[in-house]
Amino acid sequence: MYIEDLHKFEGQQVTLRGWIANKREGKGIVFAILRDGTGYCQCVITADTAGETGLATAQELALECSAELTGMVVRDEKQIGGHEVHVSALKLIGKSENYPIAKKEHGVEFLMDKRHLWLRSTRQWAIMRIRNVIIYSIHRYFQENGYVQMDSPIFTGNAVEGTSTLFETDFYGDPAYLSQSGQLYGEAMAMAMGRIYTFGPTFRAEKSKTRRHLSEFWMIEPEMAFFDIFQNMDAIEGMLHAVLKDVLAKCSRELEMIGRDTAVLQSSLKTFPRLTYDEAVRIIKGEQDVNGVNGIGSLEAELEQVHARQKEVDAEIADREAKIAAGGMKKGEINFFQSKIDSLKQEKADLEEDARNIPQWINSARNFEYGNDFGGSDETVITRLFDSPIMVYDWPHEVKAFYLKRNPEDPRFARGVDVLAPEGYGEIVGGGERETNEEMLKEKINEHQLPMEAFEWYLDLRRFGSVPHSGFGLGLERLVTWVCKLKHVRESIPFPRMYGRLKP
Ligand code: 4AD
Ligand code: MG
Repeated sequence: MYIEDLHKFEGQQVTLRGWIANKREGKGIVFAILRDGTGYCQCVITADTAGETGLATAQELALECSAELTGMVVRDEKQIGGHEVHVSALKLIGKSENYPIAKKEHGVEFLMDKRHLWLRSTRQWAIMRIRNVIIYSIHRYFQENGYVQMDSPIFTGNAVEGTSTLFETDFYGDPAYLSQSGQLYGEAMAMAMGRIYTFGPTFRAEKSKTRRHLSEFWMIEPEMAFFDIFQNMDAIEGMLHAVLKDVLAKCSRELEMIGRDTAVLQSSLKTFPRLTYDEAVRIIKGEQDVNGVNGIGSLEAELEQVHARQKEVDAEIADREAKIAAGGMKKGEINFFQSKIDSLKQEKADLEEDARNIPQWINSARNFEYGNDFGGSDETVITRLFDSPIMVYDWPHEVKAFYLKRNPEDPRFARGVDVLAPEGYGEIVGGGERETNEEMLKEKINEHQLPMEAFEWYLDLRRFGSVPHSGFGLGLERLVTWVCKLKHVRESIPFPRMYGRLKP
């Protein structure tokens, strides 16, 4: 019996097992919020229904202890989940003394140290459920569209995405690297199966702390024989639309719990704008508007608003603190004022961050040098102007991976495509059409100073029945982070691995 099925048992007796997420007490009555992984349910315990010992047990229930409760299911729209259970019997299963995560605010580092417990909290629970729906949706999309799932190796003998982010390990005395990407193996498999996708762990040594980088993440890498870059973009869009539709259909409750405004998810169900690198650069530098809005101009206006709001927030905090200090308030009123002050202080911190960031974004956008890859702030500047993901293609070949095909009409550009998520999130997908010309590939391998012998097998794919083909890599955590509008990628995965974080 699970909480998510309570609607089928109105007026009937059920037994629920789970953990106590919250508890309130009145005279002779206990309201306990039980969670069982499928949902939350208020359980009401009085001596009338549960007897004196039942009430006494309920009074002893501590935050995050586990318990079994039996009672009558009563419909109540006002309650979380729409039902309440009037308890007739209850039993403590596992005690919980001094649960370390209290209701008050904790710092993120503290919560990360307690990740094994933090996962139980409502917000983390909702994020993990959304992640689960996204994973299922991705598999469903590919399976229903004729793709064959493949598992690429984790131990690899060569770099795919640059040598600077490799995790080296020992493979029976020989150096090996943890996989940075399954793509090259995916290309081989696509020549056997037509269309494939990988879904696996991926490793990148990133010795810096950013809100977008993990050392271990999950990547989905489809590879399609006979697809050019434009068919590749169609596939990316088809997959992302399928995911967004599923999330909107199945996760409305979770999205609401985490306060995610779904307007942008809805508006992303249209065709994504496709911009060349050249066009994107003009937008970043403020030389080209998007729907009448100038990127740099709108940032400057926003900075002014931030400064004005900072003044208001400071004044309101000071005012409320002075009123508490003046005395004469009832306890309830003080608590109310204090919680207002706490949320204002949170807003103050967010505003301070904006006030620090926006001038940097303006500066780096103004000074963007044509020919460079986009940095995080460039992606932020351009994606804030759109209400759906955008696809940027045809990049200067020097800044992209060795395996990308040159645009036959203009060989200065490689046929790579990056998908940038809106609201400042930036890159969630990188992909492109692959080079099929053996000589061009060898030239690139040399240019990137990669060991030719490690790529002999890969060159074989160009020697025996080579065909035009394309593929892409979706970063699962980047997608979850955007869909949930998280501030940092670390909350999108159960146990993040990143620079400075190997525990728990
Ligand atoms: O752009 P990337 O490096 O592309 C590749 O690996 C290609 N081989 C993919 C392909 O064409 N088959 O990585 C692809 C995606 C990025 O767009 C990003 O979403 C994610 O993987 N990603 C990371 N996510 C979290 N932490 C990191 N350190 C990431 N590095 C890349
Ligand atoms: Mg990339």
